[in-house]
Amino acid sequence: METTSVTAKAVGRQLSLADEFQDLYATTKAKVGDEDLAHIRNVTAYAKAIDARRLELLHNGGPKAAGRAIVLEMLYRLLQFSELGHNIIHGSYDHLPNGGEYHSDHYQWDFNVDVDQWKVMHHEGHHPNTNILGEDHDLGYSVIRAQAAQDWFGHHALQLGIVGAAVPFFAQLAPFIVANSARHMDGTPFFSRDTLRAPARVAYRDTVRRLITEPLGAGSRFLPTLLANHIGGVAGYVAVLFLVVIEHHAGDVEVFPNPGPDETRDEYYSRQIRATRNFLRSEKLDSALEQILDEEVPFENRPDFRIFYGGLDTHVEHHLFPDLPPNRQREIASEVKEIVLRHGLPYHETPLGDTAALTLQALTGFSIPLGERELSRPLKLLKQPFSLVRRLAFGATYRTLPEAPYLDKPRFYNVPVKVVGTRRLAGGQARLIRLEKPHAWHGIRWEAGAFISVRVEHGDEVRVRQYSLVHDSAGSDTMDICVKRVDGGRVSNLLNDTIRTGSYVTVVGAPTATGGLVMAEVPRKALFIAGGVGITPIISQLRKIAREGTANDAVLLYFNRDERSIIFEREIRELGREAGITVHLFTGIHPSASVIEGLVADAADRETFVCAPTGLVDSVRWHLSALGQTPDRFHTESFAPPELTRPVDDGRRYTVTFKRSERKVQIDGATTLLEAAGNVGIRVPTGCLRGLCRACVTPKLSGTTQHEVKSEPMDRITVCDSLACSDVELDL
Ligand SMILES: Cc1cc2nc3c(=O)[nH]c(=O)nc-3n(C[C@H](O)[C@H](O)[C@H](O)COP(=O)(O)OP(=O)(O)OC[C@H]3O[C@@H](n4cnc5c(N)ncnc54)[C@H](O)[C@@H]3O)c2cc1C
Ligand code: FES
Repeated sequence: METTSVTAKAVGRQLSLADEFQDLYATTKAKVGDEDLAHIRNVTAYAKAIDARRLELLHNGGPKAAGRAIVLEMLYRLLQFSELGHNIIHGSYDHLPNGGEYHSDHYQWDFNVDVDQWKVMHHEGHHPNTNILGEDHDLGYSVIRAQAAQDWFGHHALQLGIVGAAVPFFAQLAPFIVANSARHMDGTPFFSRDTLRAPARVAYRDTVRRLITEPLGAGSRFLPTLLANHIGGVAGYVAVLFLVVIEHHAGDVEVFPNPGPDETRDEYYSRQIRATRNFLRSEKLDSALEQILDEEVPFENRPDFRIFYGGLDTHVEHHLFPDLPPNRQREIASEVKEIVLRHGLPYHETPLGDTAALTLQALTGFSIPLGERELSRPLKLLKQPFSLVRRLAFGATYRTLPEAPYLDKPRFYNVPVKVVGTRRLAGGQARLIRLEKPHAWHGIRWEAGAFISVRVEHGDEVRVRQYSLVHDSAGSDTMDICVKRVDGGRVSNLLNDTIRTGSYVTVVGAPTATGGLVMAEVPRKALFIAGGVGITPIISQLRKIAREGTANDAVLLYFNRDERSIIFEREIRELGREAGITVHLFTGIHPSASVIEGLVADAADRETFVCAPTGLVDSVRWHLSALGQTPDRFHTESFAPPELTRPVDDGRRYTVTFKRSERKVQIDGATTLLEAAGNVGIRVPTGCLRGLCRACVTPKLSGTTQHEVKSEPMDRITVCDSLACSDVELDL
């Protein structure tokens, strides 16, 4: 076990995943230059030599030569796709002044795709949206079903047969597959001149060249040349397609619901890693192919055989840095792997041989409408005949089911949540924001008085703010918050100015509560006192009382600066009329003992819930206490986030043990447990850093923190605001 000693001051900043990758990218990209151009020119010359030898073999040789020409044709196609066109069109050499023909705008790619459609499908569609359902129209999403999270449609029942029947025509079909994925981006129909003209031209040109001109040029060897070209072409395109499919489909790579525009840089990189697979080459296969190349294509400066897989075997690196030349991707692969594993992410690497089985499994297994939920127990689907019939009925008519039974990936941390409605309140001083409950949050419950934490990124800064939910979970299917502008406030004004229906906000976690204002049961006699935007948790409590219709005795005193500032005025007056709640609205005055006592004679006996600016809360507490109220009847919560008070160093040191990571660290009493974890390289999800959002909640196995000294011991603590008061053991 490692032991490190730190104090609060010595706590250093840990680089985020995105920062580490961007540093690595910057240093690697800066190295790209003449050496890389020399490499790619050499690969081009080698490809030409392979193609020339292929033709020679066809013109002069017998059946063995034709067999070898097929292999050379397959390797030529693979090379054109991998080390050459795919990477060059990404712009790997665009920034080099002497890049010439390797600029992505001029490169003549000898591969059956229309380059413009490729750029749309691949650069605009696939790369930014890797494995996002409904956004990434890469092969698996448009044509085949290779992931349990994809919706099932009628033709998937026959997908193995369809793929099998398409194999002999893959060379001709490739440009149409790309065109189909590209047209999803702008919604053009497949059967239209715009979609089909370009791929038809590409397929026609290649067919004439390989299946007519070259066989005719071979004279008496017309038929063997025709056959060899056809089989070699099919083998080449099948190989490319196979390698492309295994990168993001089948096996343990993941598929994601749309993260919305608030996906953070860290989340973006994490998604690329989790959605992508590298493969480990098969030595046997490679040495057999290398032998044929050695014998048939003498070449002075033969590049490493990995050029035939360029960017496909290092696909994780390619997806992190798409415009790095493939030789550079190979160079940094071990460093990328180290970073990925250190950040607790999976680095998918599968032996090439195993990927074939995974793909076959996917093609057969997912031809039935099995979703992620049934993946581990497929027979479960049979126990839900109604769900099965619905899936079949929707799939047969090419409609997606509203409740997404194919996807079972609930997210509870930094979740992009859709805004389904907004309304200006109090003459524009506040905005009501109605948020859709994220997928799989339907079972999540919260009491009146709960809040959510909203995360906003501004440049490098992350700001997390709390907003009370104005309904309890039984009272609404949505999560509604009301954000009041604060003078000079950064997040409140941003949300008021920019949030529209259809936009997304990032919610740090599920609704939670500090406990101060939670009202699980409606008290028999209650007093609610709100000031300004402090009405938000209180209205949730009043709505609960109105909904439950119990004949309770409730009084609301609501104080505002002026008439314009009153939030929810109409509804509050209605609650007064229809739900039997006694309502008093005040403007321009502060609550005084005489106001309270005058309107609520038995105030001291009531369960009292107060939410208002700190000064107002303090004065109400004081008046009520003077009226004889006991503290246990007084419930409140401050909208000012708590500040952590760090004690002065008294020389004491505590050992924090991270059980699962097998690390230990010694800290003083002013260092938070989160800082302690960071110092021994343990990452904990965080949000507010103030003990409110609960993103950092961690099981505590033993020890005492400052929160527990005067209260009950806790077995789950927010490490961001916890200071050790003894040795502590955490389940981290
Ligand atoms: C449990 C809880 C529930 C809440 N519920 C609600 C709710 O329902 N509705 C609601 O509107 N709010 C609610 N809040 C308050 C909310 O979380 C935010 O604090 C509020 O919106 C202000 O955030 P802001 O980013 O706009 O302000 P900030 O940018 O944080 O600024 C806050 C104040 O500090 C001042 N300030 C900012 N930067 C500086 C600086 N560098 N130096 C000096 N002064 C500075 C600003 O002028 C402003 O007065 C709640 C808070 C909590 C803790
Ligand atoms: S980070 Fe929000 S509670 Fe710890």
